[in-house]
Amino acid sequence: MSAIAVEKLSHVYSGAEGGVPALEDITIDVEPGKFVVIVGPSGCGKTSLLMMLAGLRHQTEGTILCAGKPIPEPDPERVGVVFQEASLFPWLTALDNIEFPLALRGTPRDDRRRRAEEMLSLVGLDGFGARYPHELSGGMKQRVSIARGLAQDPPVLLMDEPFAALDEQTRMTMGHELLRIWSTTRKTVVFITHSLTEAVYLADEVLVMSARPGRIIDRIEVTLPRPRTYEMMATDTFGKLRERIWQQIRKVP
Ligand SMILES: Nc1ncnc2c1ncn2[C@@H]1O[C@H](COP(=O)(O)OP(=O)(O)OP(=O)(O)O)[C@@H](O)[C@H]1O
Ligand SMILES: [Mg+2]
Repeated sequence: MSAIAVEKLSHVYSGAEGGVPALEDITIDVEPGKFVVIVGPSGCGKTSLLMMLAGLRHQTEGTILCAGKPIPEPDPERVGVVFQEASLFPWLTALDNIEFPLALRGTPRDDRRRRAEEMLSLVGLDGFGARYPHELSGGMKQRVSIARGLAQDPPVLLMDEPFAALDEQTRMTMGHELLRIWSTTRKTVVFITHSLTEAVYLADEVLVMSARPGRIIDRIEVTLPRPRTYEMMATDTFGKLRERIWQQIRKVP
């Protein structure tokens, strides 16, 4: 069974003159455990699609099944989300932010503290658990937000440009870390990025979207072996894959 099955999904935001068509005829099938990356021009509907996969917004047409069942409302036990901008509660410490969804779910205090500490360490923030968001840099806040997404341990993780605010070095390290975590937990990941290098480095499959209304215009299987290494970025295969995505994107008006 597919981890995510989207069929003939279209979306129109209501508004003047018949509304804003945001997504058109999207069909996606993601096998469990796959790492799928979505790229496409700004405003093509990537975040909108992700919100729908998370049950945070309803499409005008088409269906979404997550492990065979619809997802009419957010369900962090089935689908975790890491947003484009870190969305932390300013009045909670880093650890409390990571624990928050677990607390909502009724996870016992000791368990959730242990889990939160593990995740904090995983994102390289050992020793920062007691800090409040205003005491952390943008990149650190984003890492707390990723730790929170992981702490809930959902089988499907949706990530909307999670590394966009990070500097290049941190970004590469985080990408590599994410792959390490993914390979041990075998989650299904849907990851949005504007970085073609990041797309090729991370993905099993890259879906390229057109300008709004977003359609899927190419699906590129990334044949590079796993585990991925930084050295692979200098290979011919890597360059060719990146070039193919670029050719698709630049066609977009
Ligand atoms: N709540 C909304 N109401 C009306 N229109 C919206 C709403 N949210 C998004 N849109 C429109 O839908 C289109 C797609 O937006 P979306 O945020 O999904 O794009 P995106 O691909 O994530 O862009 P970016 O790469 O800049 O993050 C845009 O034209 C946007 O203006
Ligand atoms: Mg977006």
